[in-house]
Amino acid sequence: MQPFNVYPLYDITPVKALGSTLWDNKGEKYLDMYGGHAVISIGHAHPYYVEKLTEQLNAISFYSNSVQIPLQQQLAKKLGELSGLPDFNLFLVSSGAEANENALKLASFHTKRKKIIAFKSGFHGRTSAAVAATDNPKIKSLINDDSHVVFLPFNDAEAVRNAVDSETCAVIVEGIQGVGGIHVATDEFMAAIRESCDAHDAVFIHDSVQCGYGRSGKFFTWELSGVKPDIITTAKGMGNGFPIGGVLISPKFEATFGMLGTTFGGNHLACMAALSVLEVIEKENLLENTVTMGEYLMSELKGIPGIKELRGVGLMIGIEMEMPVADIRKKLLFEKHVFTGVSSTHTLRLLPSLALTKADADIFLKAFKETMDDIK
Ligand SMILES: Cc1ncc(COP(=O)(O)O)c(C=O)c1O
Repeated sequence: MQPFNVYPLYDITPVKALGSTLWDNKGEKYLDMYGGHAVISIGHAHPYYVEKLTEQLNAISFYSNSVQIPLQQQLAKKLGELSGLPDFNLFLVSSGAEANENALKLASFHTKRKKIIAFKSGFHGRTSAAVAATDNPKIKSLINDDSHVVFLPFNDAEAVRNAVDSETCAVIVEGIQGVGGIHVATDEFMAAIRESCDAHDAVFIHDSVQCGYGRSGKFFTWELSGVKPDIITTAKGMGNGFPIGGVLISPKFEATFGMLGTTFGGNHLACMAALSVLEVIEKENLLENTVTMGEYLMSELKGIPGIKELRGVGLMIGIEMEMPVADIRKKLLFEKHVFTGVSSTHTLRLLPSLALTKADADIFLKAFKETMDDIK
């Protein structure tokens, strides 16, 4: 048997990682400015995280959601404290798509409606309800019916005011569009979603799967505008590589037995991973580091020839280039040994660990400047 061949792969085999550094099977060293797609939040193989997961693995790693798992309460309490949402409730899942799937389902149970408002260039995952709300026909099959979804231009407050009505179940939006190329939602846009949802009893779902868990320097990006959603979804950085996602649910939603469910969500190991990530974020002041390093990278990138626009907040940075970025990215990876990400054809995406050091940022900046000089 072979893996189903859906991913174009680089011929690189990482076998070891620490902080923002990876080593391959030939002993070559790489700088990770992408965090495996925004997943590595506190750094690879963080010693505290490794210790806590090892302890948990030796104690108990899994039992189903039919018994008491106090780690779930501990995680919910800590997450409530750090995110400033102590009165929200937490439903635990195992991925970003599953978080959005459950958020949309909960919104529909709650409103007894079906119409979803989503945004152009948004990405919410590949399960049925999530992919239906994703503006990419290439990843939808015939069974992913999206006739109930209306796609509006991102950051168009007026379009939101016009589209949300008494049939609207939910508006789902990323605080910062990630896959779409690092576009930050404006305050006016967020306020228009809130007002329109309030006016029609629709649910405001904030997809924080990529932009959340400290990546913007705020815990979740709704804090950038101060406009609070009804449901927040999270995953990626939540487990620093251990698969876990969460749906943070405002107290206005009532839970009933059996309404939502999952086998793996909230298992002992996943909770311990998420809990130790939160402890490290707090102890090591990683939100502050994210702001400092994000501002540093932005200020150093400014003025480099070839850059058309710099976008983003904290350590979620989009570098839109005047030329296609495929070659730049390949040169960075194979000649300079730096992992970066991409969005469409012209934007490089930086999503490094929130614990990125200045020394690592400098390695990237030097590699990027040299690569741009080479390309000229
Ligand atoms: C904003 C956003 N939502 C949802 C998802 C889906 O997450 P997952 O791949 O864990 O299902 C992603 C993944 O890139 C994402 O960026």
